[in-house]
Amino acid sequence: MDLLIPDKVHDESRQGEALLLEPVVGKNNGRKLYIESYGCAMNFSDSEIVASILADSGFETTSDFNNADVVFINTCSIRENAEVRVRNRLKEFAGAKSKNPGMVVGVLGCMAERLKAKFLEEEKLVDVVVGPDAYRDLPNLIEQVDGGQRAVNVLLSREETYADISPVRLNSNGINAFVSIMRGCDNMCSFCVVPFTRGRERSRDAVSIVKECTDLFNQGYREVTLLGQNVDSYKWKKPHPASPQPSPKERELETSSEVLSSGEDLGEAPKTVNFANLLEMVALVNPELRVRFSTSHPKDITDEVLYTIAKYDNICNYIHLPVQSGNSRILELMNRTYDRDWYINRIDAIRRIIPECAISTDMITGFCTETDEEHNDSVSMMDYVKYDFAYMFKYSERPGTLAAKRYADDIPEVVKQARLAEIVAKQQQYSFYRMQARLGRVEKVLIEGFSKKSNNDYCGRSDQNAMVIFPVTEGYKPGQYANVLVERTTSATLIGKIVE
Ligand code: 5AD
Ligand code: SF4
Repeated sequence: MDLLIPDKVHDESRQGEALLLEPVVGKNNGRKLYIESYGCAMNFSDSEIVASILADSGFETTSDFNNADVVFINTCSIRENAEVRVRNRLKEFAGAKSKNPGMVVGVLGCMAERLKAKFLEEEKLVDVVVGPDAYRDLPNLIEQVDGGQRAVNVLLSREETYADISPVRLNSNGINAFVSIMRGCDNMCSFCVVPFTRGRERSRDAVSIVKECTDLFNQGYREVTLLGQNVDSYKWKKPHPASPQPSPKERELETSSEVLSSGEDLGEAPKTVNFANLLEMVALVNPELRVRFSTSHPKDITDEVLYTIAKYDNICNYIHLPVQSGNSRILELMNRTYDRDWYINRIDAIRRIIPECAISTDMITGFCTETDEEHNDSVSMMDYVKYDFAYMFKYSERPGTLAAKRYADDIPEVVKQARLAEIVAKQQQYSFYRMQARLGRVEKVLIEGFSKKSNNDYCGRSDQNAMVIFPVTEGYKPGQYANVLVERTTSATLIGKIVE
């Protein structure tokens, strides 16, 4: 079992959630779409893009797959158990399809990309297989299926960012939104299937990102999370009116010499926007709009990004900085391109520049050839950083990855499990320690809604991303900020009351 300390980026409680929208007036084609999503926040954000594309072709959404004409499942391949979950769900859809043979069943996302046409043969009930860069083709593919064929489009693109598609967000709380700023990943960590399922890294047009965040703010949203596999390598060059966008090759060769400075107009001349610049541009949308981002990469996170976070009150003091292992030899086998000392240097820079910053991580136990001593280096890294949260996983070999090709998955399951249990227990202590450090302090909380347990309590998150619970108080509504005095804690929650 993988153990997770939940936060918003890979939210366990959202796995399998169905997306529901309001019908688009005048466009109804009389057919209903059901779409459910698994995996990371990027997948949930992609489902909003899919729903938007299909709403444009007249589909209405339904929350009951038994009533649907088209059933889509947006899938994740990151670990084997994610794929097992999806296969089980497909068996459940088989029952609905046997009662309604006209139903179109489609697999989207990373598993579609990984298994491609093989899916159609293996899972007899699937009619459509569509990879993450081919969603614009969905209306055509559905037509092909209506015409009696099965349809596949798993082409990966070097350009597609869906920048012009405004994602629909109607089953969100109207307060927090995810905004995708880039797609794909060029890092080739040896354990990871993402570069194969989501293709090459490309950054989305900065102007469209700022516009989307501005529109969200105007609609009442108060928090945006900028999403990418490696946000620190975000880089976008405004095309000169007369010249086309550079090819990805040209983009690789470019150096970041000409960079937008604070609040500068995007103007006429080509300018390069890096992640620090983008953060600043989004922070300047409105001081009342909170800005979060995920995921940072230890090899790429710059002091410039840290100073930008420190400069703006509305950029949250929270960084998700996956370490994966605390041992330099294992990091090399993982092809993470940094070592233990480099990572510690980045942690020290965060503590120096943003002393109040919360830090979370991802850690993998039992990677190929990991010894007990090397595992102890991961444990001692946890002692050094005292992470606020961690996502912890047993290594799961993924077909096609560099590690699967080069190294034997040689750590016995029981050892992987024991190492995982050890770091989970350690993390629980540090999460509790970090929460305890907030006792007696006043946190600025963005109220998100009622708490899960009671309509007498509100919940929301602090700047450092801790969940905070406090009694509903007259004059305060979801979407507003409240100052909450922390009176008690668990290892995952701060509990308190509003103070003026
Ligand atoms: N096995 C276990 N964990 C993995 N992750 C990615 N690939 C694997 C794998 N093959 C974890 C990493 C990554 C997070 C999103 O998932 O920790 O940061
Ligand atoms: Fe996978 Fe590494 Fe890219 Fe993250 S940075 S998506 S772990 S290859």
